[in-house]
Parts: sequence; C-alpha cells; structure tokens
Amino acid sequence: MNVTRKLFDEVMVPNYNPAATIPVKGLGSRLWDQTGAEFIDFAGGIAVNVLGHCHPELVKTLQEQSEKVWHLSNVLTNEPALRLAKKLTQATFAEKVYFANSGAEANEAALKLARRYAVDNFGSEKNQIIAFNQGFHGRTFFTVTVGGQAAYSDGFGPKPSAIDHIDYNDLAALETLISDKTCAVMMEPIQGEGGVVSPESEFVKGVRTLCDKHNALLIFDEVQSGVGRTGDLYAYMGLDVTPDILTTAKSLGGGFPIAAMLTTTEIAKHLKVGTHGSTYGGNPLGCAVAEKVLDIVNTPEVLDGVKHKEALFRSGLEKINTQYQCFSEIRGKGLLLGAVLNEQYAGRSRDFLVAAAAENLMCLVAGANVVRFAPSLVISDEDILEGLSRFERAVAKTVAS
Ligand SMILES: Cc1ncc(COP(=O)(O)O)c(C=O)c1O
Repeated sequence: MNVTRKLFDEVMVPNYNPAATIPVKGLGSRLWDQTGAEFIDFAGGIAVNVLGHCHPELVKTLQEQSEKVWHLSNVLTNEPALRLAKKLTQATFAEKVYFANSGAEANEAALKLARRYAVDNFGSEKNQIIAFNQGFHGRTFFTVTVGGQAAYSDGFGPKPSAIDHIDYNDLAALETLISDKTCAVMMEPIQGEGGVVSPESEFVKGVRTLCDKHNALLIFDEVQSGVGRTGDLYAYMGLDVTPDILTTAKSLGGGFPIAAMLTTTEIAKHLKVGTHGSTYGGNPLGCAVAEKVLDIVNTPEVLDGVKHKEALFRSGLEKINTQYQCFSEIRGKGLLLGAVLNEQYAGRSRDFLVAAAAENLMCLVAGANVVRFAPSLVISDEDILEGLSRFERAVAKTVAS
C-alpha cells in the first residue's frame, strides 16, 4: 500500500490537517520521516513524549508487560495500576486516584466528581462551574464547554449548563462571580493551548481563598503542566497552592495513552461504585509505562535538568530575538515555553512553525501569536543547541518574507 499524506485526505475524517511529512521512527529527541529526513523534536507530541521517543527503559517496560497481561477491565484490578496509584499518592497531595485514558476523560471525571460532591453535601443548587477564557480542558462536550474558547464548543447543539468564564489572572472578576452556588473553579496552573500564560502568584492564591470561602472545589488541570514539565513534578508544587482535584495525562504515559484524576479521600468517596467508569482506564500496559515514567521523572536529576534546559532555551531564544526583534516576551516555565510574537508579526505563529519544519525542526504554536516549545525533559544540550540554530534559520526566513 502506498501510504502517503494524500491517503489521509482520502480515508480520515477531516478534523485534522497534519503536516506533509510522516515520521516513521523516533529516538530521543530526533525523528525520521518516510524519506529518511531527520528532525529535531521541540514539540514532544504536544507535551507528551516526556522522555523522548523510544526511551529504552520505557520500551523494556512495555515489552515486559506485554508478555504478562494487556487488559483486564475494571472488573479486576491489576498490579501496575495499584503500584502507580500508590506512587502518585506518595508523590502528591492526593490520597485517591482514578485512571482514565486521556486528558479530556480525566477532566470529565473531575467535573462530574465536583458536581456530585456539591450535590451530596450542599444540594442541587450548588452546580456552577467557573473556568477561564482561553483555557483548554479537552474535547468531550462537558470539557470543551468548560474550556474557554466558544469556537470549539459552538455548533454541537445545547451545551452543558451552569458554566461561566472570566479572564485568567483577573481575581476581581472571580470575586464578583463566585458564590455559594459555585461548585468548582477549574484552571490550568499554566495555560498551555491558550498561549503559555502563567498565573500571577496573588491570583492563584486568591483563587484558593475564594474557593475555600464558598466551599467550591479547586480543580487544577495539569494535563499539560504535569509530570515534571515545569521543573516541579506538578506545577502546583511551585505555586504554593494545593488543589482539591488534579488531573494529569499527556506526559504521564510518555506517549502511551493514560490519564489520572487525583484527589482526597473525603472528596473521592462521592464517586461511589457505579457512578463513573471506563473500560480501559487503569489498563496494565499504560499503568506499567506510567509507573516507569514517574520513577524516572520524579528524581532530582531530571527535575533539576529541566531548570538547566529552560535556561539554555531562554538564552538561545533571547539571542535570536536580539538579532531579529520578533518576540515581545519569552514566557512559561520549565520546558513549556512560549515565544510571543510582537505586533509586527501578530497572527503569524503558524508561519514560524512551517518555516521551522522546513529547517527540520518540529515545534508548536499556542494560538496565532505564540510559538510554543514542549520538548522531552531529557533532551540533550546538544539537541537543544542544534534545534535552536535551526529555529534561528526559520526565524531569519520568516522575518524576511
Ligand atoms: C490543559 C489540557 N487539558 C486537557 C487536554 C486534553 O487532553 P487530551 O487531548 O488527552 O484529551 C489538553 C490537551 O491539549 C490540555 O492541554
């Protein structure tokens, strides 16, 4: 069979528009396509390939587990799931874990749990969910409605209700909107898709205080920011604010689909037997890989390495900017970084991405004005420097065009 990008248009639902190149092999932070062309990967599968491609320890773990047991369903539990849950609770504020397969599903569980907790404790009137403009929480109908981009949730008929949005970092707006009818505030501790926007310290602490005042649960969506990405195992740890519910996916499986919702015993008890579930959630293959990811990432070696690599990225990007004057700011934390285009290049982030691909560099955008980088946390310094020099060539071509 002739497998080409053209085949995509023939046989796939047209909700994506992938790049022309089709990678067939990955190792570390390098990818090779069907023609043998080699790319440096600063995209990391959108903040997923936390240990790069085909990390030998993950390959070994997956192979070993694949010879033991692949799937059991939740009628039976399994050893990798129990070990992973134990390690997640040991490493975080959480006491209880629910496994899902994707970020959206973990968020769906978090939102349903928050509603159920409020109904059980305070009655059915307490159902308002407050979230933030430009936030992103997934594509199920509940999560996409809680996400702060109406364009993604419009056009599918009646939406789940009692969901309100305000601007990120606007504590006064939250103070005005929140009430005893609010059951949860959901936020990303760094907005990823929305442009790599960090919360101000006063804002995030204020959100916690207001949630406490109104008995609303604080849900941190750490699907993109979690598992070492910011240099802390979870971003909340660097903010001095602890959520009531945390969701984690993407990097958790290092490329194998798995997600988790973490919470306390007191809150978790409201998801009684039969109230929620998933056939694949807690699948032994996914849990075995995620356990290994956690073992490797949650070490001073990797987490401190993120801070060092952030500094390398920042200084390289600043240097490029000194020459080409195209960014107003380099923002973000750890290895979730955004180069914000200045007014002259407003709306052109995709042009930079396309130019980077032409220089054999994979990167991401976060909206029309931000070029985003979310590479492997163990990317070598050499690959960072080589990738940045490819990016510099892409910038030079873009500003000249
Ligand atoms: C913060 C955040 N939440 C949720 C999601 C959705 O995750 P998934 O695509 O695995 O459903 C994403 C994906 O980009 C995300 O960045």
